[in-house]
Amino acid sequence: MENFLLHQDKNRWYEAAYRRVSTRRYGGAPTGEQINLLAAMTQTLALGGVRIVLLPNAGKVFGHGLMGRRITGVTHGAGFVLAKDTPDWCAGYVGEAFILECAALDLGTCWMVATFSHKAARAGAGLREGERLLAVTPIGRPEVGTLEPLSDDDRPRKSIPKLTGLSDKDFEDLPEWQREAVLCARSGPSAMNHQPWVFTPEDNGLLLQSDPNSLDTGIAMFHVELAAAVSEKYGRWSPAENGWRFTIS
Ligand SMILES: Cc1cc2nc3c(=O)[nH]c(=O)nc-3n(C[C@H](O)[C@H](O)[C@H](O)COP(=O)(O)O)c2cc1C
Repeated sequence: MENFLLHQDKNRWYEAAYRRVSTRRYGGAPTGEQINLLAAMTQTLALGGVRIVLLPNAGKVFGHGLMGRRITGVTHGAGFVLAKDTPDWCAGYVGEAFILECAALDLGTCWMVATFSHKAARAGAGLREGERLLAVTPIGRPEVGTLEPLSDDDRPRKSIPKLTGLSDKDFEDLPEWQREAVLCARSGPSAMNHQPWVFTPEDNGLLLQSDPNSLDTGIAMFHVELAAAVSEKYGRWSPAENGWRFTIS
């Protein structure tokens, strides 16, 4: 996949990563200007077999109170669509850029693969030959108003020793970009907050051990690469044992 981060406003998305939180209660629609910006972003992010589509029928997709935590007050949403033979991780990687763009615009979102009307979402996405809809997100103004930066305590996440196998002291001794990359990935969303990943800092990169094909993995890859880019470290992903390896060029 092309490294499109180089062409985007990485600092804006990085800052947004620490404000993004799964939003399930909405208090208003995006403005017309925000919708236009997001529509343009879906074009920019039409990459690697991923298509992001603004759903015209969000009320039907999210508004039926299925099992799980209900989504209330939502008027808009988007679907993450994959072309034939595109692996799931690509939707996580590209889709998270879209999610962070929403957060940068102060709009709430929530990655969803389960608790929505799949039938309505597939109809709203207007699937083309061979495409599949992998996930959706509501989009709107959070009921609480704005998205505020969350402290570590506000985000239920696994400890650094659990995620890296390193003591807190050894983690502190890592180069700054590696620390930032792990912390940024740790702040990211995962299905049921399972955080199914292990990070191993390497001489010139970072090993991410996680299901190599999952949406969660793509999201973590995006967060790692984003934080590295903010530290002016750029690199590439390659397949590795049980996951992916990010190597600085
Ligand atoms: C791939 C994926 C699928 C998810 N599916 C759902 C879902 O179907 N319903 C839901 O309410 N939340 C869903 N979530 C949201 C997670 O529960 C949430 O990201 C996690 O609890 C961490 O919380 P945070 O996003 O506020 O940091 C999903 C998240 C991801 C990344």
